Amino acid sequence: MGYKVAVVGATGNVGREMLDILAERRFPADEVVALASSRSLGTEVSFGDKILKCKSLETYDFSGVDICLMSAGGAVSKEWSPKIGAAGAVVIDNSSAWRYDSDVPLIVPEVNADAIVGFSKRNIIANPNCSTAQLVVALKPLHDKARILRVVVSTYQSVSGAGKEAMDELFAQTRAIFVSDSVETKNFPKRIAFNVIPEIDVFMEDGFTKEEWKMMAETKKILDPKIKLTATCVRVPVFIGHSEAVNIEFENPISADEARDILREAPGCLVIDKRERGGYITPHEAAGEDATYISRIREDATVEHGLVLWVVADNLRKGAALNAIQIAEALINRKLIAPKKKAA
Ligand SMILES: NC(=O)c1ccc[n+]([C@@H]2O[C@H](COP(=O)([O-])OP(=O)(O)OC[C@H]3O[C@@H](n4cnc5c(N)ncnc54)[C@H](OP(=O)(O)O)[C@@H]3O)[C@@H](O)[C@H]2O)c1
Repeated sequence: MGYKVAVVGATGNVGREMLDILAERRFPADEVVALASSRSLGTEVSFGDKILKCKSLETYDFSGVDICLMSAGGAVSKEWSPKIGAAGAVVIDNSSAWRYDSDVPLIVPEVNADAIVGFSKRNIIANPNCSTAQLVVALKPLHDKARILRVVVSTYQSVSGAGKEAMDELFAQTRAIFVSDSVETKNFPKRIAFNVIPEIDVFMEDGFTKEEWKMMAETKKILDPKIKLTATCVRVPVFIGHSEAVNIEFENPISADEARDILREAPGCLVIDKRERGGYITPHEAAGEDATYISRIREDATVEHGLVLWVVADNLRKGAALNAIQIAEALINRKLIAPKKKAA
């Protein structure tokens, strides 16, 4: 007997990717249900070679659902995840609503899969921010080898990280500029086409943005609370794929060659580092892929034990949908859930 899986936010960027990945990985589901807001009632979405018609979250009965992949924003998750969890489904949530709750595990399976057991307190597991997910996949094996003291990261984040309307905005602005039309700005604080914007999420009192704070807080929760991290998060006019320039300071010595060998063996990582023209990965090449790509590995001579890396991943996959489905697979592989008996 397989699982009954509900995908909430099935019409969105992440939800559509979830449906694709469930089909690609032959997730052991007997039934997959697509849910979105009442606006999308009846909207068709693809699931492998099938078409699913969206149902409304508001009126859906979750009592037979085993796993709910939630991807409909923080406000929807705050309201619905506890209700769905109480109905007996394990919720794997993509929003930031539960990430910092001490009763909710925040999981990147390559890094802290063992922490998953804490899910039963609320029946909710949180997926990290897209920028954090790819970062910790690259940091974990290096931390195990040489103990990370401090990380300085600058991100180059694609517009798909801000949802489907944000992707439409980049397209519309680019087109408008080419045909000398007026450029409208709605989802971003400034024009994104042919520009970069150092503001993702709201400003906090100390001048950092919430996105920058999330990278710091989530890296501590997932990897090690002792790691110091400072981030500058920047939106760039790329449709899919987040890139990061990462400076790492270690307690113990580690050379670029050692780091390259360690990362080559590390789960989820793919090293492409040829030290020649074009011998690295860009977001365009990472889009649609599952790996976290690591390039430009070099020693930072300005600190005692330092490395610099270039880390790229598909934010809709490793940064969201893939990670959520890997969490569901970890629950099953560790026998932490079993399919509910369904009425005949
Ligand atoms: N994009 C990323 O890289 C990324 C990475 C990590 C986490 N996340 C998080 O994942 C979530 C979804 O992101 P996204 O990029 O997929 O956004 P999106 O493309 O804007 O899609 C939002 C989805 O949520 C649904 N929704 C909105 N209000 C709803 C309601 N009241 N009831 C039920 N469904 C509702 C929408 O349905 P309708 O079409 O019916 O409105 C749509 O399916 C967000 O919390 C985001 O922060 C995104």
